[in-house]
Amino acid sequence: MMFPEYRPRRMRRTELHRALIRETSIGLNHLVYPLFVVPGKKIKEEIGAMPGCYHFSVDMLKDEIRELEDLGIPAVILFGLPEKKDKRGSEAWAKKGIVQQAIEAIKKTTDNILVITDVCLCEYTSHGHCGLIAKNEVLNDETLELLAKVALSHARAGADIVAPSDMMDGRVGAIREALDEEGFSSIPIMSYAVKYASSFYGPFREAAECAPQFGDRRSYQMDPANAREAIREATLDMQEGADILMVKPAMPYLDIIHTLRQEFPLPIAAYQVSGEYAMIKAAAANNWLDLDSVMLESLLCIRRAGADIIITYFAKDVAKKIG
Ligand code: PBG
Repeated sequence: MMFPEYRPRRMRRTELHRALIRETSIGLNHLVYPLFVVPGKKIKEEIGAMPGCYHFSVDMLKDEIRELEDLGIPAVILFGLPEKKDKRGSEAWAKKGIVQQAIEAIKKTTDNILVITDVCLCEYTSHGHCGLIAKNEVLNDETLELLAKVALSHARAGADIVAPSDMMDGRVGAIREALDEEGFSSIPIMSYAVKYASSFYGPFREAAECAPQFGDRRSYQMDPANAREAIREATLDMQEGADILMVKPAMPYLDIIHTLRQEFPLPIAAYQVSGEYAMIKAAAANNWLDLDSVMLESLLCIRRAGADIIITYFAKDVAKKIG
């Protein structure tokens, strides 16, 4: 059918018409809110390049969690900054490590929020890389054992879902095996399956104090130029037992989200990363963009590309707007 028989504007005339045929929506049930936990007491400090996001000490989490619960946010993802770092990142699997304490504190506060944990070493290693180092190279197979220990310690502390973000080959399988052996076969793995070596992580590296002290992450995170490789990465993770596949960052990589949606039956998550958040916030602070409408549009577009779950620093703002 062609114009004038087909007039697309007919169904755009009023909001009622538009809402009737709307294909995509943002629901709070799909959103995950990142939290940064630091040592100490009575700390709630705003993160410089991420206005509206804070470092929390464990004792301050309770109020924040209650607020998230009241807002109807169903899940958080935890990042921890340890008291001290070392070459192996051993605080990452310490029984009383920062994330392990945070999980316990949240679980004591509510059962209505899923606690997802980021499984990585970069916040915990003195060199800031996501694995063990020898001769300035990040070792793969030797790192797997440590990642499995981290995931296991999170599960023991009460985490609901573990999310490996390190990008070592074979880590999903190693973590699945360790969890199953220790009686945690019911804990899902949300794999950062397709994680690019992106400059959009800039503000996060300040938030999590995890900038590499030498070199960069391009020997383990994916090359932003590659799309076909995303399918191979996701296939590996699915075969190794991932329950959810994540793409990260989100908005500059909508094509990748779309491809994974087409190719895989698993739930797809997208991480709207710190740099995406910071750009929108900075433009809005200058009155160059309207914060609320750009925030909602960015999330809607990530959903339209095919994401089921979105990890976003805007989760609270969205809840206040649409909740
Ligand atoms: C840890 C990790 C990073 C992010 C999530 N987990 C940083 C990195 O890989 O350098 C980035 C999140 C963000 O920018 O919001 N490996």
